Order: sequence, then structure tokens, then C-alpha cells
Amino acid sequence: MSERLDEILKKIDSSDELSKGDLEYILSIHEDDEMDRLFRKAYQIKTHFVGRKIYLRGIIEFSNICEKDCYYCGIRKSNAKMKRFSLARSEILEAAKFAFDSAYASLVLQSGERSDIAFVEFVEDILKDIKMLSGNKLGITLCVGEESEETYRRWFAAGAHRYLLRIESSNRELYKKIHPEGHSFERRVECLKMLKKIGYQVGTGVLIGFPGQSNSDLADDIIFFKEIDADMIGMGPYIVHHETPLAKKIVKYDEDEQFKLGLRMIAATRLYLKDINIASTTALQALNPYGRELGLLAGANVIMPNITGTEHRVAYQLYENKPCLDENAHTSRVSLQRKIEAIGETIGFNEWGDSPHYKKLR
Ligand code: 5AD
Repeated sequence: MSERLDEILKKIDSSDELSKGDLEYILSIHEDDEMDRLFRKAYQIKTHFVGRKIYLRGIIEFSNICEKDCYYCGIRKSNAKMKRFSLARSEILEAAKFAFDSAYASLVLQSGERSDIAFVEFVEDILKDIKMLSGNKLGITLCVGEESEETYRRWFAAGAHRYLLRIESSNRELYKKIHPEGHSFERRVECLKMLKKIGYQVGTGVLIGFPGQSNSDLADDIIFFKEIDADMIGMGPYIVHHETPLAKKIVKYDEDEQFKLGLRMIAATRLYLKDINIASTTALQALNPYGRELGLLAGANVIMPNITGTEHRVAYQLYENKPCLDENAHTSRVSLQRKIEAIGETIGFNEWGDSPHYKKLR
């Protein structure tokens, strides 16, 4: 068994590209000592290519109103039980100011998807306001879904410089199975290409471990990340939300296995793409209290602390048991810093933390 891992680790040391079969093997590892060796190698590659520094992106989940109806997501349009909210401009600016005062240097604005003109203008104005409030210093990532090229251009001009749009699954057949008619895989890929062309740093990612997905699909996802030339990856384990159609397809859901698959996916992505940013996402923490730190030790280098006001967090449940619902932004800042320093990493305060991959291309 571990001879195969030896071979793979040797390939990495001599900078040979891993094959799809190698990625699949990595994703299938179950023995604890093999997993340890894998994570140690991924961490070493992370250290070599992106250093021993973790970058923070304060995330503001500013609205759960969504036009989409994805079968896995708790804020899908058809979930009538979900109480809908949108933050007021002043609340978003307050959270942005908190990030700025805390030296976070970079923000993510995330919401459900809407393409009406009122939304487009609202986001545009907020971007300008945040840029003004921070003397142009805060970096801003948008994560609000599929839009027209014109809208992407407007938001870029208003100050957004990164965009996160997960492909969710790079297998078009699987994509169709987890989305209703009218949600187009091709359109999503086109959006990623458009974002890149406009000049955004582009992030993508997938749901890990949903019903019907195999290790071969996940290996293809990692190859897709490279093909699309992603600057950053944000991905996490699929977590059940019972008010969604996909929940009915679950035969067996093993949280620990799901968590470990999430970590192996981070490690495999780090070993394959090397110099990009990889987020250790909240979904990992939902499955394990040390999830985000373990994600860093498996090769991730970005954390996105939630800085949305606590009164609205309950309503932004993409999945169940989302952590930190009651932890306020200040206490989570203090505990996060302690946890990151405990694993021997420092935080890149006051730095945008662009990936070396992105810088290399400029
Ligand atoms: N489990 C894990 N992640 C989810 N997302 C949506 N629903 C779930 C779920 N049930 C993720 C999607 C989306 C991101 C904002 O949240 O991948 O891109």
C-alpha cells in the first residue's frame, strides 16, 4: 500500500507532475500513518511555495435572498422555511470598518444570487463606499454568483479585485444532477473565463463528498482547477441541509470520513497546484472543532473569519450546524490568532496576500 505513496512523494520531490491516478490514490488513503505522511508533504509544499503565513479574509454574508435553487443549499429559493434578510448598507460598512481596524486587509462580500438592477447598483455602491472608508486599502473579493459581463466589469471598476465562483462539480453530468433545469454548467465555466479576462483574481472550488460523486470525479476537479488557471481555491465537504432535495438522496453520512476526505482534497490540490491560495473553509470546522487548523496543516493558507453581525448569522445557513453562529467578530479574532500561532504560523496582517501564482503572471 504505502509503496504507492512512496512513489507519489518521490515524484513530488523531483517536481514531476502527478497523474490522475496519483490524485485518486491520494484521495482514497485511509490509514492514519499514510494520511499523516500525505499531510506533512502537503504542508511542506505549502511552506515552500506560499510561506508560513496565513492570510485572513473577513467574510460578510450580506443577504440570503437567492434566485437559484441548487439541490444542496439551505438558502435555495424554494426553501420557504428560510427567513430572508439583507443587511443595510450601514451594517455592511460597520463590518468592513471592523475588518479594516483589525488589520484584516481583505474582505469577502458573499450573498445569494440576484441579477436585478437594484442589486447590481447596491453592490457597486457598497464597493465604492468600502474603498473610500479604507482609503483604498481594503482588498475586496466578491462571491455573489453568475452575472453578465457588463456587471462583472462594473464591479471590477468599482473596486472588487477578486471573485469566487465555485464550479461545484467539474463533471457536467453530476452538475446536472445537483442543480435544476436552467442552471447551466457551460454558463458557469463561461463566467469563470469572463472574470479572468476582465482581470479579477479568480477563485473556484467544489462540494466534496456529495451523493454520487467518486474519487475519480474529485481528481478531475483538481485537474479542472489547473486548466481554468485558478488563483485561489475555496472548497469544503458537502454538509446535509434537511430542507433540500439532495438530503433525501443520502444513504450514509459519516462525518469523520467526510471531514478526512475534505482534508485529503486540500492536500491533493496543494500538491498539484502548489503556488495558489487555498482556503480552509468553515464547512471543515462544522465537522470538527479543529477543522480549520487541520485544514491549514493539510496545505491550506487562507482563513475567512465571519464578521457578519451575529444577529443575521442564523439566517445564513447554507448547511446545518454551521459553526460560530454566536461568536462575535472580536472574540473570534482573538481566538483565531491564538490558534494560528499555536501551530507555528503567523498572520499576514495588513497584507492582501495575493498568491505567488497570481503575482507570477503579472
Ligand atoms: N454543504 C456545503 N457547502 C455548501 N454550499 C452550499 N450548500 C452547501 C452544503 N449543503 C456552498 C456552495 C457555494 C458556497 C457559497 O456554499 O459550494 O458555492
